Amino acid sequence: MTEPAYLPHQVFIAPSVLAADFARIGEECRSVEAAGADWLHLDVMDGHFVDNISFGPAICEAAAKAVEIPCDIHLMIERPDHFLNRFLPHAGNVTIHVEAEQQSVAATLRTIREAGCSAGLSLRPGTPFDAVQPFLDQIDLLLVMTVEPGFGGQAFMPEMLEKVRAAATARAEHGWRYRIEVDGGIDTQEAAVCIGAGADVLVAGTAVFGKPDRAAAIRLLRGER
Ligand code: DX5
Ligand code: ZN
Repeated sequence: MTEPAYLPHQVFIAPSVLAADFARIGEECRSVEAAGADWLHLDVMDGHFVDNISFGPAICEAAAKAVEIPCDIHLMIERPDHFLNRFLPHAGNVTIHVEAEQQSVAATLRTIREAGCSAGLSLRPGTPFDAVQPFLDQIDLLLVMTVEPGFGGQAFMPEMLEKVRAAATARAEHGWRYRIEVDGGIDTQEAAVCIGAGADVLVAGTAVFGKPDRAAAIRLLRGER
C-alpha cells in the first residue's frame, strides 16, 4: 500500500513511536492516530548502524495492527537488504540509509517498491547531499536527518535546512515527486522553518508523545491553531 506521491502544500505529521510509552504501545499508537497523525514513524535501530537498539519487526507488526494509518518504518540498521522482508508486510513506507552496508542501494529501493511500498532514502547529518543524488529518481521519500540518528529528544540541527532546500530544488527542477521528510528535534518552530524550506513530512517524537494534548501538538506542527 503506497501513499500517493508528493502533492504541493500537503504537510504530513508522523509521530515517532520511539518517544511513546512502550508498556502501552498499542494504546499509544491509537492515541496519536486519534489525535490526527497521518503516519506512524517507527525507528528501527540495530546497535551497529547507530549506537542504540530500539525494536524489530514484532513491534512494527503490533503497531501496524493497532492503527489504520500507514507505518513509516525508518531502518537505522546495517544490511537493510537482508532484513527488509521482515518489515515490508507492516509498512506503508520503508526508509533505508544511503550509508548502510548493503549489496546495492538501488536494488534495495527496487525491492521495496516491488513489494508495493513507498521507498525512502535517508542521510545522516554528516553525509553530503551529493550522496543521495544518484537515487533521487528512484525514491518516493527523502528523509533528511536533522539530528544524529540513534536517540529521540536531541536538539534540531538548523544547518540541515540547506539539504532540505537542495532536495526541494532538485525535485522542482526535474519534476520528481518524492516527499521530503525531516526527522529529529522537530517542534513547532522547527516545523515552520522546515516547511518553509520545502519539507512536507515532519517526524516528531518528543513534540507529540511528550505533550498532554497530542491533538493540539499535531495541529501546531501543521501550523494550525
Ligand atoms: C532518531 C530518530 C527520530 C527520533 C525523533 O534516530 O530517527 O525519529 O526518534 O525524536 P524527537 O522528535 O524526539 O527528536
Ligand atoms: Zn526516525
